[in-house]
Amino acid sequence: MSLSPPPPHFFFVAALLFVSHFAITADASTSSSSSQTLNTHAEYMINPKLPPRALSSSNKFEGSSNLVHLRYHMGPVLSSSPINIYLVWYGLWSRSHKLLIKDFILSLSPSTPAAPSPSVSEWWRTVSLYTDQTGANVSRTVLIAGEYCDLKYSHGTQLTRLSIQQVIATAVKSAPFPVDHRNGVYLVLTAQDVVVQDFCRAVCGFHYFTFPSMVGSTIPYAWIGNSAKQCPEVCAYPFALPGYMAGGGPGALRPPNKNIGVDGMISVIGHELAELSSNPLVNAWYAGEDPTAPTEIGDLCEGLYGTGGGGGYIGQVTRDRVGRTFNLNGRNGRRFLVQWIWSPALQACAGPNALD
Ligand SMILES: *[C@@H]1O[C@H](CO)[C@@H](O)[C@H](O)[C@H]1NC(C)=O
Repeated sequence: MSLSPPPPHFFFVAALLFVSHFAITADASTSSSSSQTLNTHAEYMINPKLPPRALSSSNKFEGSSNLVHLRYHMGPVLSSSPINIYLVWYGLWSRSHKLLIKDFILSLSPSTPAAPSPSVSEWWRTVSLYTDQTGANVSRTVLIAGEYCDLKYSHGTQLTRLSIQQVIATAVKSAPFPVDHRNGVYLVLTAQDVVVQDFCRAVCGFHYFTFPSMVGSTIPYAWIGNSAKQCPEVCAYPFALPGYMAGGGPGALRPPNKNIGVDGMISVIGHELAELSSNPLVNAWYAGEDPTAPTEIGDLCEGLYGTGGGGGYIGQVTRDRVGRTFNLNGRNGRRFLVQWIWSPALQACAGPNALD
């Protein structure tokens, strides 16, 4: 009898056996992240109602409305491609936290192979729908063009809005970052022991542009702080809720990457990058009559992460098999929970995990 190749269904059965065996093994282990993709059936949608965020936001707005007058004020948007981000890590940052944040930023651009839908780059697509008066769209491609670690807290552990620009100036002098007028933006990320003016009381991050007298040129920048020690219930909401310090508390959602402070920062980074790109010199896309307190495309959708959000509900998001919450996929198998953004096409808050 000659050895004939096994019929095709043999391979099919063998593959099935292997997969189910692997899944059982993974179920028994406590720390397998590779098992997540094999157990997608154990993931389900939730739309929790949570106590409101502690920061009382004057421009709190939920859902869609024709009362929102988001207008274009004739200024530029970040249409030069790619958007080059120059990162300043201010204070002590662990390698794993830096990698997590960089994975989010690098997930904004379309990639091959693409991350599974709903993805971070599909989320950025809403931002790329904003155009300037020449009809040029916000760039779909976002790169990290340089990094500087300010390990010595060169301007202390208490920063003002203005001294953030000195932090940038120090980075520009020491790194050195090139003067990237056309494509560059600075992103200053402060460690959890750094106190920043208005942090926790009024803001979790902000964006503006540098002054030539301080940094040598006019370049858009944003700052976001790690709130883990100072006010997670404000700036890492909904991974921590008001009334329960730092531990999250009953009802708080489990962060997708097991880090309340950094997972919380990622949604704020998304918010600020979206606004910085559509309103880099604070004279392009915003609502309201007061340019010193503009309501921008992230502000309009704060606290909304999915379909059916509003009135205390965060919207439909996914809970994975170990209880972590996310709404977007990124590179390297990462998952993130990121707020929605106002869409000029839909005249409503939008995200790629929308159910309709
Ligand atoms: C640019 O923005 C316009 C207006 O929002 C949109 O219709 C168009 O699809 C965008 N183009 C690209 C290439 O994203």
